[in-house]
Amino acid sequence: MTPTEIFAGLLRAPKPVCGDDASRHMPVLALAPMQDVTTLQFMRVISRYGGPDVYWTEYFRVHGDSRPEKWILDSIIHNPTGRPVVAQMIGNDIPALVRNAKLLQQYPVAAIDLNLGCPAPVVYRKCAGGGLLREPQRIDAILGALRDAVTIPFTVKTRIGFASPAEFDALLPVFAKHSLDLLTVHARTVTQMYRPGVRYDLIAQAARELPCPVLANGNVYSSSHALAVLAETGARGLMIGRGAIRNPWLFDQIRAQLRGEKIKLPAGRDVLAYLHELWDNEISPGVRESAQVQRMKKFTNFIGEGVAEKFLHDIRRVETTKDFWRVCGEFLDHDQPMSLEPTAVGVASPASVS
Ligand SMILES: Cc1cc2nc3c(=O)[nH]c(=O)nc-3n(C[C@H](O)[C@H](O)[C@H](O)COP(=O)(O)O)c2cc1C
Repeated sequence: MTPTEIFAGLLRAPKPVCGDDASRHMPVLALAPMQDVTTLQFMRVISRYGGPDVYWTEYFRVHGDSRPEKWILDSIIHNPTGRPVVAQMIGNDIPALVRNAKLLQQYPVAAIDLNLGCPAPVVYRKCAGGGLLREPQRIDAILGALRDAVTIPFTVKTRIGFASPAEFDALLPVFAKHSLDLLTVHARTVTQMYRPGVRYDLIAQAARELPCPVLANGNVYSSSHALAVLAETGARGLMIGRGAIRNPWLFDQIRAQLRGEKIKLPAGRDVLAYLHELWDNEISPGVRESAQVQRMKKFTNFIGEGVAEKFLHDIRRVETTKDFWRVCGEFLDHDQPMSLEPTAVGVASPASVS
């Protein structure tokens, strides 16, 4: 089967239910696109822990005469996971988006996705990513052109508005109009960035009102929380980003909990082994020691939230390989089970819509 066929099959399956029928009605589990994180190397590591059903690339920057960046294409061409990869684009130049969508479709991608959520000021000020949410008419034109150009599944990843969740009502009819194959909703506004107050109720609204399947995204941090978000939103599945960096066992824990099985928590030494695996995969021959340690901090910044505040404090200050592993050993060289849930990141409960 082609990646497109596998992905289309995932989207066709009935909505998930918890309990006895769970193994027949599993939610779609996706790894969120994360710039500089969801590389070929990281996808390989995550897949060894069970992994998601589908991966997203970080976004291809589309403008003028741009072409898909080679290092992102690598994760599609050499996809080591055995599961489909969706190619995400960001931009607002319609001819360039159409041209790049056609180019990307020449590779083994499962779908083409458009980013309508990036909150970086350098992006949204140019009216790309989350900036486009201020202009639904412009989104309408872009989606129309891309829907015509994309012959495989076409998907969108959006936030719920630019400055206010009240904007979501005007966005939904635009999404409904263009026969999307999937909408992923990161239920925060652009100006909210990553602050608490994820509006799972608005994901539920999208799942109710749209003809296409919806993935729920935002702060899913444990298998119990995942089940609560699925129940509250009625979404077809979950897209998980930081929670999966922190806890690569999470996708399998969710599957196990849906089957009614007991969740197996990793021990400290399992987390240590995960860090070693990341190190071995992320190491680039010839790269300076300090750059290598710096690269690992991209991951430990998230993983640390599930370990301890003191770990996060100490690991942020190391500069050498020796110190990096010394700090990891101090906190992780043990057999105690670890939930890897974030300690102090202001996670909102599914019912919380503050
Ligand atoms: C380091 C980092 C990079 C990200 N890069 C992208 C990206 O390239 N495209 C995108 O749509 N979202 C990107 N996001 C947003 C995530 O895909 C996701 O929507 C967000 O982190 C909320 O989900 P989470 O709470 O499960 O992490 C990024 C997030 C992080 C933390």
